[in-house]
Amino acid sequence: MINIDELRSRLLERIKTSDQPRDVLKSDEIKQLYAAIPTLEPSERGAYGKAVNELKISLEAAVALREAEMEDVSIETLDVTAPWGVNETEPILLPTQQGTQHPLTRELENVVDIFTRMGFEAVESRQIDDDHHMFGALNFPENHPARDGYDTFRTEEGFIPPAHTSTMQNRILKNGKKALEDGGKIAAISYGRVYRNEDVDATHEHTFYQCEGVLVSRDASLGQMLGTLRSFFEVYYGQKLKIKTQPAYFPFVEPGLEFAIEKPAALGGKPGEWLEMLGCGMIHPNVLRAADIDPEIYRGFAWGGGIERLVMLKYGIEDLRYFESYDRRGDRH
Ligand code: DAH
Repeated sequence: MINIDELRSRLLERIKTSDQPRDVLKSDEIKQLYAAIPTLEPSERGAYGKAVNELKISLEAAVALREAEMEDVSIETLDVTAPWGVNETEPILLPTQQGTQHPLTRELENVVDIFTRMGFEAVESRQIDDDHHMFGALNFPENHPARDGYDTFRTEEGFIPPAHTSTMQNRILKNGKKALEDGGKIAAISYGRVYRNEDVDATHEHTFYQCEGVLVSRDASLGQMLGTLRSFFEVYYGQKLKIKTQPAYFPFVEPGLEFAIEKPAALGGKPGEWLEMLGCGMIHPNVLRAADIDPEIYRGFAWGGGIERLVMLKYGIEDLRYFESYDRRGDRH
């Protein structure tokens, strides 16, 4: 009698290393399995047939896997950050007409456009920053546990790939101080790539995009902030939205809030399904002081949140990782 388990491991091994894995399905061993059926007692045939069938299913799955693997090997590697093909001896520019803007770039431009039309100046955030802008100027005391959630990576020189776009707040405030004191106000957003020490899954990435906003004047209020945010989200999603907030702690705001919208029915939402979109609040007096702005005279609000989340909701994208991954097999025609 043929030992099916033993045969399975032998054939699986052969499939893994074969260049023609499908041939294994037609091998002599398989033929012998079928040839053995008439020699069996009728009472044994049922169980035997089932075992042979299961064997075939597992072999077929292994063949499909091996075939996919072989296809991958034949894809030439491409350094997507190089403006020419790295495999060429001379730099040859890649044909740009084959590409399009990345959806995140397009949506980020859309976000920036909406806020610009609302009167906010837009500045790109830095991709390498320092402890002062990441923590000190944002009212994170030395060794405070609130730093933990934002601790990402550091270069040997102590520079930080920032974990949020709030690193730009101090610069925005300092730059705007004069206009503020001349009777104007500060209204700016900063946007860009941020980094976290994160376990990657469908809703968490180590690298992602944020947009941050800051408004400072003599009379800024939570009411103005909620109105600003609601207007933004309603323009972005092209419809009226319900909003709500709940208290949250961020060292750089007091009070601090989480801002949520009700998931629109047009985007598959049910009433009462709230989606937290960003953190926000009234700028902490210490943050104003760090930019030499007098908190007795001026007040401000700020907010910050991820771009991917906005885009995922808009287009029904289920997995955050799709933004940075890509199946090149479809390219070869
Ligand atoms: N920087 C925060 C984060 O990434 C988000 C945030 C919360 C930004 C509150 C703000 C704010 O400006 O006021 O988790």
